[in-house]
Amino acid sequence: MPARPSSPVNHRIDRVVLTGGSSGIGNALLHALLTLPEPPAICNLSRSAPTVEGAEPPRAVHHLSCDLADEAALAKTLPRLREWTHSADEGGRLLLVNNSGFGGFGPFPEPDAAHNLRMIDLNVRAPVELTAALAGDLEQSGGTVVHIASTAAFQPTPYLGVYGASKAFLLHWGLALAEEWKDRGVRVLTVCPGPTGTRFFEAAGFREAPLGKRGGMTAEKVAAQILRALDGRQPLLTTGVGNRVLSMISGRLPRVWAARASASLLRKLRLERYQEGREESRDDANHPSP
Ligand SMILES: NC(=O)c1ccc[n+]([C@@H]2O[C@H](COP(=O)([O-])OP(=O)(O)OC[C@H]3O[C@@H](n4cnc5c(N)ncnc54)[C@H](OP(=O)(O)O)[C@@H]3O)[C@@H](O)[C@H]2O)c1
Repeated sequence: MPARPSSPVNHRIDRVVLTGGSSGIGNALLHALLTLPEPPAICNLSRSAPTVEGAEPPRAVHHLSCDLADEAALAKTLPRLREWTHSADEGGRLLLVNNSGFGGFGPFPEPDAAHNLRMIDLNVRAPVELTAALAGDLEQSGGTVVHIASTAAFQPTPYLGVYGASKAFLLHWGLALAEEWKDRGVRVLTVCPGPTGTRFFEAAGFREAPLGKRGGMTAEKVAAQILRALDGRQPLLTTGVGNRVLSMISGRLPRVWAARASASLLRKLRLERYQEGREESRDDANHPSP
């Protein structure tokens, strides 16, 4: 189990609705929240239940099993979520973290249109629906919304095009909402992590996580930076200094150039994947299984 981040959160949080606490960044955030001096009540939404290891004393996390990419399943779950938000310390400050998400790597529409549409449903529609459903509670409690976008949001991302565009939606919408809601006492923080060591890359169809020489960030570091940012007032957090510099540069490039630059980077990864796949099938042909 990786080291837990220290969690010096001064901003009081009483209730948390978190999506995707079963893995990666969401799971690290869940653990970090549970180790706060005054841990909030947490309700997790994902398809599988999160494991909560080593929280002392052990704390229960309320889990609502839901496929958030399925509009009907989410609609069915919303009344149970409202029930939970009302029963858990009603009136206490609410934090909503829209974290669940997945990507898809390959030339459009690979693997197929349905995969891309599910991605839009999970990465875009579900955060809009959850934020709308909890808007009243967020306002009454002076709460906070955190959107987990990505550094992929700062430029077009060929071969990862629908994913990058879904994160660009979250970034733009998050920053817009931060302005709209600040007079209503609701804080909106949009987080853009760069490559982070989670199951994300495997799920997105990469053969290997493109985490760079330094190995990317750990989910625990990303979670620690998010918790620290909850104490501040900024509407945008790009995690890690290197990611901040790179995203500033790519965000300032003319979009067409930025698309070209990221195409050549991502095409290289695509080509490597394709060549490795061919070598593997050649090996299989040379060494057929018994
Ligand atoms: N890792 C990176 O490099 C990176 C970089 C930038 C941004 N991000 C963003 O960070 C967020 C978390 O990803 P991660 O890196 O922690 O990846 P991860 O380890 O694959 O976790 C993804 C989480 O999303 C949940 N999820 C997936 N499909 C779902 C569905 N249909 N309904 C409900 N929940 C679903 C998963 O839970 P279940 O499978 O149990 O449903 C899981 O908890 C994502 O929004 C991702 O886009 C990641």
